Amino acid sequence: MAGRKYGLDLGTMNIRIFQGGHGLVVYEKNMIAIQRKKEVAAIGNDAFEMYERTPASIVISNPVRDGVIADINNMNKVAETLLKKCGCTTGFMRNNSFYLAVPSDVTEVEKRAYFDLIAHSAYNTHNIFVVEKPLAAALGENVDVKSKKGMMIVDMGAGTTEITVITMGGIVVSKLLKVGGNTINASICQLVKERHHLVIGDKTAEYLKLELGHAIPGQGRSKTVFGRDVITGLPSKAEVSDHLVFDSMKNYLFQVVRTIRNIMETIPPELSGDIIENGIYFTGGTTLIPELDRLFNASLRVKVVFAPKPLESTVRGLGVIMDHASDYKDLTFSLRDAAFE
Ligand SMILES: Nc1ncnc2c1ncn2[C@@H]1O[C@H](COP(=O)(O)OP(=O)(O)OP(=O)(O)O)[C@@H](O)[C@H]1O
Ligand SMILES: [Mg+2]
Repeated sequence: MAGRKYGLDLGTMNIRIFQGGHGLVVYEKNMIAIQRKKEVAAIGNDAFEMYERTPASIVISNPVRDGVIADINNMNKVAETLLKKCGCTTGFMRNNSFYLAVPSDVTEVEKRAYFDLIAHSAYNTHNIFVVEKPLAAALGENVDVKSKKGMMIVDMGAGTTEITVITMGGIVVSKLLKVGGNTINASICQLVKERHHLVIGDKTAEYLKLELGHAIPGQGRSKTVFGRDVITGLPSKAEVSDHLVFDSMKNYLFQVVRTIRNIMETIPPELSGDIIENGIYFTGGTTLIPELDRLFNASLRVKVVFAPKPLESTVRGLGVIMDHASDYKDLTFSLRDAAFE
């Protein structure tokens, strides 16, 4: 029986699985709820539903932190459950293949964890390929990564922002910042506490970001949110303005702009010339902040190209690689020999 192919993008917040011939088959929160320290209470979107409303005996966590697998046991449980959902069962399916997107600017040990995740699972396969995430993200946006021209792709996710220069199917430079949408949420929580003396949860901060987040300040909008009064400890509410949400985003956004500028200054002028000509490609869920293209275009003075489906670019790029395996063989690498002999 012919083996199936699965592409996995294990993000800090979201996990996406692409199945060869079927497309995107799983898109869930990368979360796990553990009860009494060992029993799995929920996985994926079900765990997210429970997040911030569980008793002390249930602990909810993200197995991926800052873009890398931090908890391989729990990552294994999440991956196995979600793969089962799309019909990928464990056992004798030795000929199934797995394609995993890994950040580029991480240590060999951190990259190795992606192989170990599948190699030490019950999937019983040696067909494990890793693809550098920025290459997958660029392919998912129809960027010709094998072109001789230099291009820049910026992936603004939940836990990370990865800025990468690509040419001829390879990575010239990649910088992984351990900041992203989660950083904005943490900053919203902090500013609501300072300015409104209200303690709010991460889900409320996410709500404020999605409702009021805007890259151009001063839209004059606000939302009422509930939380706990810092002084009395009692339930309370506050009217939060879009100014506060902008203030929570600006340090992060300027850090991204600064890093892009630094990289542009350090790469050979031929490559920066190509990037100026082609524009900078942006993807990742955090690029959904309205009018971010205007802000980046004005502050970088370079054309910016925003992905139409930024939450799916990386996994769709894995799909392209899986479906055209012989064309993109040189973009995948395998630890097969070192890992299994
Ligand atoms: N409309 C929106 N406005 C602002 N941010 C958004 C919007 N929609 C989603 N996001 C943010 O996008 C982030 C998730 O993006 P994505 O799925 O690309 O991250 P990830 O792949 O899980 O993380 P990483 O790549 O950093 O490991 C979350 O922080 C979420 O709050
Ligand atoms: Mg991501």
